[in-house]
Amino acid sequence: MPDGVTVPPARPLLSAEQLREGVRRLGRELSTTYDDGVVLVAVLKGSVPFLADLVRTLTIVPLVDFLSISSYGEGTGRVRILKDLDLDIHGRDVVLVEDVVDTGLTLTYVLGELERRQPRSLEVCTLLDKAARRIVPVKLRFVGFEVPDEFVLGYGLDFGERYRNLDVVVAGDLDALRGDPDAHVEELYAG
Ligand code: IMP
Repeated sequence: MPDGVTVPPARPLLSAEQLREGVRRLGRELSTTYDDGVVLVAVLKGSVPFLADLVRTLTIVPLVDFLSISSYGEGTGRVRILKDLDLDIHGRDVVLVEDVVDTGLTLTYVLGELERRQPRSLEVCTLLDKAARRIVPVKLRFVGFEVPDEFVLGYGLDFGERYRNLDVVVAGDLDALRGDPDAHVEELYAG
């Protein structure tokens, strides 16, 4: 950030305790809905902290797999698979684990890809739902928290790969971050 430019502070949205509670609730919902062998598919990288905490709240035995995708262009919904699943999901119950559903474009593409493999069932479990931003309607069976139309950081969510390891979720200043991806570092990592 150039000298003399002040960055508005990031706004706290979810505390570590709220996140823990929300994840525990989702874990209970998944444990009562599914049997052992349900496949949790997490989309790298943002959903990793959520997935790691979620699986440890489950009282069933899940199989875990990862997908890595890259967007062809922001807002196009066109996505390329960089790392495909290792598991065959044909005939299995599958839950797609997401960090945040924003426009729904990425999710719609990924769901289409998974659906083609003919799972027995396919549902979405997202930590955050930015419903106000939706362009494509998507059915979200398991939702942690609804968040406002703001750019969120922390607990897996990044800007320029920063902020993923915060144990809280905050709303950042997108203009400031575009100017300097480290704009919130000093404030959020102090002490
Ligand atoms: P969608 O296709 O617009 O729903 O976007 C989904 C993906 O965009 C998410 O999985 C995130 O990786 C990223 N994303 C959307 N909103 C945010 C945000 O507020 N902070 C960080 N990443 C976001």
